[in-house]
Amino acid sequence: MPQRILVIGGAGYVGSTLVPKLLNQGHRVTVLDTFWFGKAVFDEYLTKNLYRFRQLFMMEGDIRNCDLGKIMADADCVIHLACISNDPSFELNRDLGRSINYDAFLRVIDAAQKAKVKRFIFASTSSVYGIKKEENVTEDLELEPITDYSKYKAFCEMELRMIPAEKLPWVIIRPATVCGYASRLRLDLTVNILTMAALTKGKITVLGGSQKRPNINIKDMADLYVQLIKEPDEKIVGQTFNAGGENLSVMDIAILVQKFLQDFRDKKVEIEIKPTDDLRSYHVSSEKIKRELGWQVLFNMQDAIWSLVDAFEKGKIPNPDDPKYYNIKTMQKLNIS
Ligand SMILES: NC(=O)c1ccc[n+]([C@@H]2O[C@H](COP(=O)([O-])OP(=O)(O)OC[C@H]3O[C@@H](n4cnc5c(N)ncnc54)[C@H](O)[C@@H]3O)[C@@H](O)[C@H]2O)c1
Repeated sequence: MPQRILVIGGAGYVGSTLVPKLLNQGHRVTVLDTFWFGKAVFDEYLTKNLYRFRQLFMMEGDIRNCDLGKIMADADCVIHLACISNDPSFELNRDLGRSINYDAFLRVIDAAQKAKVKRFIFASTSSVYGIKKEENVTEDLELEPITDYSKYKAFCEMELRMIPAEKLPWVIIRPATVCGYASRLRLDLTVNILTMAALTKGKITVLGGSQKRPNINIKDMADLYVQLIKEPDEKIVGQTFNAGGENLSVMDIAILVQKFLQDFRDKKVEIEIKPTDDLRSYHVSSEKIKRELGWQVLFNMQDAIWSLVDAFEKGKIPNPDDPKYYNIKTMQKLNIS
């Protein structure tokens, strides 16, 4: 059934793929965003789907100070994606990071309860686990976040867990690192970084290489949020789910990119290995979400590599060094405080 969905941070990397999918399902979507990465993210979609214009509402606002009560008043479902969304950008200004990722999150969940939204979906992160010795990282393991970005995600999770389902029917998703092309593109994420380096320099530099990094294709990520809107309360409310596709080592990802370009573009790519102190390695298990929601990934890492190569060749990434593709560079350029 079509719903009124508020996507907070909906003009970001994940949102730019998710929102068109929601519109295609017939939902009415409001995007609340500061639009740090631009407002044009849905232009291509809307040009091809003109009749969806009336179903999309773009609202410029900052969750730290906008009137969330008013914005949420007619929302059935809220998907909360907005934050300072990686470690380096968070480290740039910790006070800012905390104010958006945690303090404003409290405003968001307070407003969501008052507005009586029927579903609240929170994008946490699989990095809340920190480094684990367990072979498979499952949802019941203790959270030992190492960085402030993941620490405040864990705090947000704790805040949600204190709210009874009848006050706010929440669900938490802990996604792996997302990969693949999107209209608001991030080139500061593992698979995307390695693919663009191969395409533009013919050389991939791997730091360490043995670290396992769980990944999820952006299309599967977006499909999951769409699915979460449809699931009955009894299956998801009050639940936390990991969501990841392949768990490959960084070196294996580099080899995959190298092989892809060799096989499909006859392009030689060199792999250079450099030492690193950051050997964080984890294997995230998505068995719970598969078992309980029948969730399946439909796209793999090659699909993500392919989508980036295709976009690059079609001129959709004209300047891969543009700060807009890198969260930390955008934050520095906009001097956000
Ligand atoms: N991309 C990944 O690999 C990944 C992995 C795990 C979890 N996540 C989580 O998924 C969510 C979406 O990630 P993404 O990659 O799309 O991030 P993103 O940085 O591309 O998008 C975040 C969006 O939020 C907006 N925003 C930031 N602060 C705001 C504020 N104060 N008020 C309103 N809007 C604000 C930004 O303008 C941006 O459009 C984040 O919560 C992130 O932590 C992402």
